[in-house]
Amino acid sequence: MKVAVVGATGMVGQVMLKVLEERNLPITELIPVASERSVGNKVKFKDKEFTIVSMNDAIAVKPEIAIFSAGGGTSLEYAPKFAEVGTVVIDNSSAWRMDPTKKLVVPEINANVLTKEDKIIANPNCSTIQLVMVLHPLNQKYDIKRVIVSTYQSVTGTGKAAVDQLNSEIKGENPEKVYPYQIFKNALPHCDVFADDDYTKEEIKLMKEPKKIMGDDTFNLTATAVRVPVQGGHSESVNIEFENEFDLEEVRKILSETPGVVLQDNVTNNEYPMPLYSEGKDEVFVGRIRRDLSQPKTLNLWIVADNLRKGAATNAVQIAEYLVANNLV
Ligand code: A2P
Repeated sequence: MKVAVVGATGMVGQVMLKVLEERNLPITELIPVASERSVGNKVKFKDKEFTIVSMNDAIAVKPEIAIFSAGGGTSLEYAPKFAEVGTVVIDNSSAWRMDPTKKLVVPEINANVLTKEDKIIANPNCSTIQLVMVLHPLNQKYDIKRVIVSTYQSVTGTGKAAVDQLNSEIKGENPEKVYPYQIFKNALPHCDVFADDDYTKEEIKLMKEPKKIMGDDTFNLTATAVRVPVQGGHSESVNIEFENEFDLEEVRKILSETPGVVLQDNVTNNEYPMPLYSEGKDEVFVGRIRRDLSQPKTLNLWIVADNLRKGAATNAVQIAEYLVANNLV
């Protein structure tokens, strides 16, 4: 199977290559793609060097699958061109996520919606993926009424230039800024650009995408997304109000039995999820599970995941694996 990785030199693209190395997609030919300025450069995959090619050269090879992590504009322009030659595109950008003709997939939750007709499949936002991995099993059991989520997001979610900004600021330098302010020693209540009703686009993604993935628009969700000087992963403080009463031990049991979710919830041992320790892992970590004492049927918890792995690359590769396993590609 020929697999193109579009954006292979980027933050997500590099993790994508690593995840593809670790897992078992039957790849016979890897086609790394990046912008014109990188064409001809090499990337490493399974101890071999591969030459970066242009979009048009990659389309000419007609890969079976193309995994895109090169920004929304690139996706809007090129995903349909790959689809036209029969390639299935798995797209990490926000370009297609809310398009009603495109599927938005977290394999553990809704891979069953995929068919052979899906040529452009959307990978959800990183903060959305780790959130729904926990919300979905609890929604099935207790029926969610309302969710309030506040995020603490890693600079890796913005891309290489943001990591460079943080590292330069740590060294005391005054680098060119990706963010409107210094990020070192700071917290910016500002992820992506401001849009409708003074919410950021990141917050709007978090409020809309879970309903589409979970196939349930009967609950309400509000979000505040914050960028913090962290690199290992995104964290989320989540308040969930249910329609039905729950039992805390049962909540822990449900989450501990959910594939892809790891329970880290023992405060007597200071055990709780943290981004430093989620880095490089594929699972979603959940802890600090406790009752909201201010109102009934309401829960507080804390979710952490490596935003470049389950939040992006791993989820995309899992979609590809599902397509292969079910003869959809
Ligand atoms: P390049 O390295 O040549 O600029 P990040 O989000 O970490 O900055 O990464 C963005 C990725 O998307 C990089 O691999 C970048 O390639 C790639 N990219 C950006 N614009 C295009 C484009 N027009 N066509 C193909 N790849 C692109």
